[in-house]
Amino acid sequence: MKNIYSNIFSFNKKMLTKTVKSLKQGNIVGLPTETVYGLAGNAYSENAVKKIFRLKKRPKNNPLIIHYLNKEDAIRDVIINENFLKLYKRFCPGPLTFVLKKKINSKIKTLATANLNTVAIRFPSNKIVRSILELIDFPLSMPSANLSSGLSPVNAVDVFEEFKKRLNIIIDGGKSKIGIESTVIDLTEQPKVLRPGIISSSDIKTCLKFKLSKRKTKIRAPGMLRKHYSPGIPVIIGRKPIKSNHAYMVFGQNHKNKKNIFNLSKKGSLKEAASNLYRTMRVIKRAGFKKIYVKKIPNFGIGIAINDRLKRASK
Ligand code: TXA
Ligand code: MG
Repeated sequence: MKNIYSNIFSFNKKMLTKTVKSLKQGNIVGLPTETVYGLAGNAYSENAVKKIFRLKKRPKNNPLIIHYLNKEDAIRDVIINENFLKLYKRFCPGPLTFVLKKKINSKIKTLATANLNTVAIRFPSNKIVRSILELIDFPLSMPSANLSSGLSPVNAVDVFEEFKKRLNIIIDGGKSKIGIESTVIDLTEQPKVLRPGIISSSDIKTCLKFKLSKRKTKIRAPGMLRKHYSPGIPVIIGRKPIKSNHAYMVFGQNHKNKKNIFNLSKKGSLKEAASNLYRTMRVIKRAGFKKIYVKKIPNFGIGIAINDRLKRASK
């Protein structure tokens, strides 16, 4: 076992030093976060950012999220506002990404932000990433650690599956607690959720004390339109499977224990379902099933984020 995964390491002081050194040299490393695993590189280094796009085969018009330890560090690169401060106080560090205006003298490479005058920033709560951020004087560009359009990885072996030995370091931080990507909120105008997540629109509304915008904006991130989160086999929503080599992904009680039935949460918890979503789709694909049928998931709260990912996976 040890042999195949020779680039997966558990985290300790020695690995912290090695990882920091590698990032300072402009290399890309696989890191755990509370949402999903990421591919981290120096956001101030053209070379590092280029490597991330190349590794992921990511289209150049899809900008990266820049990760910071705290708002004091982020202020070097973005223009903050009242809404940001309220949400930061309530939810950070944690699974919330803010789109803000980029400062003219920001050192973030324009490739990382796809030439936009805005930047998406996030403050991860994962202790491993935070301990790394404490030791470097640049922020980390960190997209999910999967090839473009695929499923985000939620453990170190998932990352290995995507990039094999093309990464020198993948840090094993166990299973990502949340299991789906952060909520993305645009704060450059009237706040608007661009990507739903575990922190829901209604959580945000409660914090800001006003309703969020539903405006149809010009496309703020072209990459958001593309087919995404695909397990590599067809995903069909709201219908039951007809063949035994079709998997059925369900939610809640009253489902039989059959070989092709995969329950996202027997107790009917949307939070648990979100954390099992990508994991379960990978398991299904690996087991050789040809299609994934999905029972309808309730469309409120975290269910909105789950349905968003399923809809894109089914395109
Ligand atoms: O949970 C997460 O956010 C994970 C972990 C690793 O932090 N990262 C992640 O990154 O999901 P990525 O690259 O897979 O997704 C970034 C999303 C994309 O949909 C991108 O279009 C959007 O953020 N984005 C980035 N910069 C933006 C900008 N300036 N305006 C609007 N959307 C932006
Ligand atoms: Mg992604």
